[in-house]
Amino acid sequence: MKKNNQQNLVVIGHAIISCDCCIADSNGIMPESLISKKDWELFQKDLDESDLVILGRNSYEYFHQKKRKRLIPTSKIRDYYFENSDLCFFNPMDISIEKIINLYSPYPKKIAVAGGQRVYKLVFDEFFYTQFYLSIKMNQFMKNGQPFIDGLSTIQNIKQYMEERGMKIQEERKLDSETIQCSYTQF
Ligand SMILES: NC(=O)c1ccc[n+]([C@@H]2O[C@H](COP(=O)([O-])OP(=O)(O)OC[C@H]3O[C@@H](n4cnc5c(N)ncnc54)[C@H](OP(=O)(O)O)[C@@H]3O)[C@@H](O)[C@H]2O)c1
Repeated sequence: MKKNNQQNLVVIGHAIISCDCCIADSNGIMPESLISKKDWELFQKDLDESDLVILGRNSYEYFHQKKRKRLIPTSKIRDYYFENSDLCFFNPMDISIEKIINLYSPYPKKIAVAGGQRVYKLVFDEFFYTQFYLSIKMNQFMKNGQPFIDGLSTIQNIKQYMEERGMKIQEERKLDSETIQCSYTQF
């Protein structure tokens, strides 16, 4: 049940996966071959248009030079810590994602969720998505790779997982010769 301030909140997930539903290879690295130029451009544009970006601590360290308002889950601190008004770390074991977002003033209108795996799951389990852009690199397979969501290894598994969480495909479009993007929305 969404609270009053959440009624108009847009929360958009972004992921690009291999045909066998992985976001990274068996070493936890996202190979260049998983990137689609078009997907990357759309992803970056959407992050630029968001009031807040939620991303894992590793991804933050990799892309920390970006000047966006960021919220980073980590187990390395207690509660939460605003390094400055644009950068906050929080421990989901100590403070819920709903409570940490409530600390923002003004309350965000649009939040982007950039992963990785545990971050996607945290938002599925403890908050909500209004939309999810899932791009699939049709020619890419990553044996023993890191799944988008643990236990989901087929596109059909993901469809079912999304449906169980009230989301279905609204649009499917080809981004380039190898990449299809499924746009899931709440129904
Ligand atoms: N294909 C895609 O769309 C996509 C998207 C995102 C990432 N990736 C790739 O996936 C690979 C693996 O990513 P990753 O998992 O290493 O990076 P990540 O998700 O950016 O960071 C993981 C870290 O974030 C913190 N964290 C995440 N969820 C948490 C939770 N619920 N509670 C507490 N802490 C939490 C933990 O930090 P602490 O260790 O500080 O506790 C955890 O070690 C990378 O190569 C990345 O580039 C791909």
